Amino acid sequence: MPKYTGPKILTAMAVGAILSLGTLPGAAVAAGLPATVQSAASVTSASTLAPANTNSISVAAARSIDRNPNHLDVFVNKSYPLKPAKYAPKTKTVSGTGISLRTEATTAYNKMVKAAKKSGVRVKLISGYRSYNRQAQLFNQYTRLYGKKYAERISAKPGTSEHQTGLAADVGNYNGACALQSCFENTPVGKWMKKNAHKYGFILRYPKGQESITGYAYEPWHFRYVGTSLAKSYKNSGAKTFEHYHGVATTKKSSPKAGKGTAKTTANLNMRSGAGASNRVIFTIPQGKNVKLTGSKKADWYQVTYSSKTGWVSGTYLSNISMPKSETKKKETKKKESKKSSPKTNGSSKKTTANLNMRSGAGASNRVILTIPKGKTVKATGKTKSGWLQVTYKSKTGWVSGTYLSNTSAPKKSKPKTESSPKKKFKTKKTTANLNMRSGNSTKKKVFLTIPKGKTVEITGSKKSGWYPVKYKSKKGWVSATYLK
Ligand code: DAL
Ligand code: ZN
Repeated sequence: MPKYTGPKILTAMAVGAILSLGTLPGAAVAAGLPATVQSAASVTSASTLAPANTNSISVAAARSIDRNPNHLDVFVNKSYPLKPAKYAPKTKTVSGTGISLRTEATTAYNKMVKAAKKSGVRVKLISGYRSYNRQAQLFNQYTRLYGKKYAERISAKPGTSEHQTGLAADVGNYNGACALQSCFENTPVGKWMKKNAHKYGFILRYPKGQESITGYAYEPWHFRYVGTSLAKSYKNSGAKTFEHYHGVATTKKSSPKAGKGTAKTTANLNMRSGAGASNRVIFTIPQGKNVKLTGSKKADWYQVTYSSKTGWVSGTYLSNISMPKSETKKKETKKKESKKSSPKTNGSSKKTTANLNMRSGAGASNRVILTIPKGKTVKATGKTKSGWLQVTYKSKTGWVSGTYLSNTSAPKKSKPKTESSPKKKFKTKKTTANLNMRSGNSTKKKVFLTIPKGKTVEITGSKKSGWYPVKYKSKKGWVSATYLK
């Protein structure tokens, strides 16, 4: 098997979970966090509160943010990159793995694995410390494979990954079941870790359904070492994410930047179920009221919210219209994103970036059919499953992990192919003389058009007794095959 190079892409399920926006923190978060736990460690010279972040949800006892990368409670995410960006910790190899973690994390990890083993669960370390350069390599690889938007959802940019602190461990099962896939949550290791990791100082950093907060898709395999006190405090707080715990959970929904659209009604105005006067009236908004614009507009109809009802009104009776520009943009981006959320694979050629097992199914537990050498070109059939692609290589078809494939120039070419394919469907011929088009395949049939010499006609069916059915200038008829080439 090739060496691990990073997470595989998301399952459809994970993508679905991600697209729904996270909710505001529950009462448990606001109810507070034990102020005593590790509070001394958190208030250090390197500690800073969140930068002026008007979007942040205020949490009464939010923990201060420690940005010192040498501290075990260092807070790192897309908005809080490592300082310095190329920070490198002191690490220690986890014996028998060839993978390193921060010295303290290695000790804790070993203890955790031992405890798991006692309860019959064997935890495998898949990835630990990654340098700035390694992270850059990974991020670029994902970008090449899936495009930047998608790469950003599954991989941190260099200088922003918890792996660069040496405090993050990606774990899996020894049989490779659901490795780096959301279904890992249902495997023995996935379940054990979820229940027990905090006891050893590790927290699940990218929970399900919290992508809008953490910035990353669900990663049930990524555990961050923060020390046992903080891990317990975090767990007990009930905070949905480490961001919530620190009072810097931001959702797009609550963003004041998302400029709210507004308008005023200039008459008693019917709010309708759709854009057009034939739609059902939901409600009549009195004259002179302020309504909110959602950003959707169809012809001169605006979607509005008024008195917690949403519907459509005619723009004729609105004044001071101010459309929510960023909202509109956001929707457009979202649409594009959802289209992109599955990497394009259809019929394209890809190159293997490692010796790559072709398997009978999508997943590392399936039978190996063949090992494709590194650097070979394979054809994607277009079928994908949880980060696995069905490919053809040397007339064998099977499944390979998308992690070890890079795009060749072929996929870009494949697009125009589809666009031009309708043309390919039709056979055409040229007239070698002025040619009568008739209502049937005989000179006895009526002539209804004469096609000039040298024109192209479309052959719409098969030849019958020396005559072709053709289409010319959207008229269909029969012409003698003698005068076609
Ligand atoms: N996959 C996690 C987000 C990382 O790259 O650090
Ligand atoms: Zn990870």
